Amino acid sequence: MIRLSRRYSFSASHRLFSNDLSEERNREIYGKCANPYGHGHNYEVEVTVAGETDPVTGRVVILSDLDTLVEQEILEPFRYKNLNQEIEAFRNAVPTTENLVFEVDRRLRQAWAQVFTPPVAVRLERVRIWETERNICEMNSELRSGV
Ligand code: NI
Repeated sequence: MIRLSRRYSFSASHRLFSNDLSEERNREIYGKCANPYGHGHNYEVEVTVAGETDPVTGRVVILSDLDTLVEQEILEPFRYKNLNQEIEAFRNAVPTTENLVFEVDRRLRQAWAQVFTPPVAVRLERVRIWETERNICEMNSELRSGV
C-alpha cells in the first residue's frame, strides 16, 4: 500500500463567533478572530490518498483526476468566499479549522465514488488543513463514521 499526498491552496475569509455564546465568552475563546468584520486566510489543504500502484501507469492515483475533484468540490466553491455567509455548512457552525476540515472531508468523500470507481481502488485517507503556520487540523477520513 502506497500513500500519496497532494497540496492545494485557497484564500477565504471568516469570522469566529458563536451566537450561542456571550460577546465576552466569544472574545475569550476566539480572541481577535471574533472581530465583527472578519479576516482572511490563505488555507493550505493536503489530501492524502492510499492504494496500490497501478502496474501500467506506475501511479496510485491519476493526479489530474484528483486535482479535478478537489477543484470542483473544494477550491472553486471556497475560493474568495466569506465562509460564514456563503458556505451552507457554516450557517450554523463556526468556521474553525476543525469544522472546515470536517466539511472538506465530507465533500470529498461524497464525490469520491463518482471519480474513483472500480477497478480504481484508491481511498481517501486523510485531509489536513493549515489555517496558519501554527494552526493545523487533520481529519482521519477512514475513521469517520457517517457522512
Ligand atoms: Ni481566522
